[in-house]
Amino acid sequence: MELKLIAQDITQTSKTTCDALIVLVPESFSQTKSKTTANLTDLISQAMKEGDFEAKTGKLLQVYRSSHAAATRTVLVGAGDGSVKNIKTAVTAAVSSIKSTSAKKLVICLSEVNKITSEAVKAAVLCAADASYVYTSTKTKVEPRKLTHITVVVDKDALSATDLIAAQAYITPAMSGIEFAKEWGNRPANHATPDLLGKAAKSLSKYKNISVDVLGLKEVAKLGMGSFMSVAQGSDQPLRFIVLKYNGAAKAVAPTVLVGKGITFDTGGISLKPAPEMDEMKFDMCGAASVLGTFRALAGIQPKINVVGLIPACENMPSGKAVKPGDVVTSMSGQTIENLNTDAEGRLVLCDALTYAERFKPSAVIDIATLTGACVIALGAVRSGLFSANDDLANALLKAGESSGDPCWRMPLDDEYGEGLKSNFADMANVAGRAAGSVTAAKFLQKFTASYPWAHLDIAGTAWKSGAVKGSTGRPVLLLLNYLLDLESNNAVASVLPASTAIKKIVKKPAKNAKTTVKA
Ligand code: BES
Ligand code: MN
Ligand code: ZN
Repeated sequence: MELKLIAQDITQTSKTTCDALIVLVPESFSQTKSKTTANLTDLISQAMKEGDFEAKTGKLLQVYRSSHAAATRTVLVGAGDGSVKNIKTAVTAAVSSIKSTSAKKLVICLSEVNKITSEAVKAAVLCAADASYVYTSTKTKVEPRKLTHITVVVDKDALSATDLIAAQAYITPAMSGIEFAKEWGNRPANHATPDLLGKAAKSLSKYKNISVDVLGLKEVAKLGMGSFMSVAQGSDQPLRFIVLKYNGAAKAVAPTVLVGKGITFDTGGISLKPAPEMDEMKFDMCGAASVLGTFRALAGIQPKINVVGLIPACENMPSGKAVKPGDVVTSMSGQTIENLNTDAEGRLVLCDALTYAERFKPSAVIDIATLTGACVIALGAVRSGLFSANDDLANALLKAGESSGDPCWRMPLDDEYGEGLKSNFADMANVAGRAAGSVTAAKFLQKFTASYPWAHLDIAGTAWKSGAVKGSTGRPVLLLLNYLLDLESNNAVASVLPASTAIKKIVKKPAKNAKTTVKA
């Protein structure tokens, strides 16, 4: 798939030949009075006058071989106020409407949208690529994706040349990252075992600045990851602990560590889940997939930052060897955990990865996990749950969520929420009561994160869709990617400050409550 951004006006776009042309029409569109049938502006104006089209977000009008445009199919779509959100809705609706056609070359015209931002332009092209994605890996009879080219047109004065170049450099790697995450999220558990996930990670080491290590049981045992191992012990599939490194900056620059939950299938273990929809627990490695996807995107963009990815990968299965309710295990941190519900396994694999993260002296650690059904109840499929005691880190992630159209929402971490995790037989239990389940899960993880600024993203509601559209969404790759790229631009600002300030700001010592973002 080729993605391109170009600047031209609507008259030129009218003359551009392509299989399909999608024109976003905002509410601010001013109709022309001319009766000519020369270009798209007249087509839009006439359609509006006749009452056949309005600029309300997502409203569609399809025209075949319009005399106003060189395109074979023209789709007018309402874009409301032109916000990132409305542009995404409009593009998704319009691309879906041409999905069954044989269109290969698509042009999306944004030149009528006033004050378009580069965020909105990126969102439009990624949204179109997303809507045309087809899963093929385990199907024999499948029509592969038809679109081969997507070109987004903006007005000549809309974006600076630098912004246009930057956006162009971003879109293809971002799409590849999302699709990498979707692909591994969508694969059934027998085609995405911990070992295969390790191999998928290894495949990324062919890119510049990326190296990957995959640890097996022996090494994990040596590290003392008793909590992680206890989850894996019921499965015949061997566990893997995946360590990815992206080194785009000097060695001395403290990395951001991304930790992704990699439960390749979650049956619940001895605390077995009910049968309906259990197949969806193949998506329980979407946190891991988002880390892999983010690395795939970093490979293409090559920002000057350092990032470490950690993925504890295993299955959660019931068996004669499986961990039992009441079992007490010792985590890598030395803290003991009473397993009161073997279905609360995500936190048990993550806690050891969070302890392992300490060795990188990270500037921040972000874990990403399909952790709790409670988060789906709290936030649904719109926003991921964000938990962090560090305001700077939380705000940077919130900002990245908004700018990328992959939003999250901050949740509380008051100490009172952790009280239910007390155990009579260990330092802590792995579950509290039903109330505030996503928060108590975060409180559990927090006990392993004392030595660095930490944030947790619960993506249980956002990582995949159920029902007829069942499939991985690729979220939160864009949120993570935008967070990391913002770090890079903040560091660039810091580096032009006097040397001492710059070094102090870039080479951050991990410390409790340390500032994690660099302010200009
Ligand atoms: N992977 C699930 C979380 C989940 C459930 C995500 C449903 C999406 C949809 C996780 O391992 C889990 O089972 N969590 C339990 C925790 C409980 C036992 C405290 C849950 O949410 O029910
Ligand atoms: Mn579970
Ligand atoms: Zn799980």
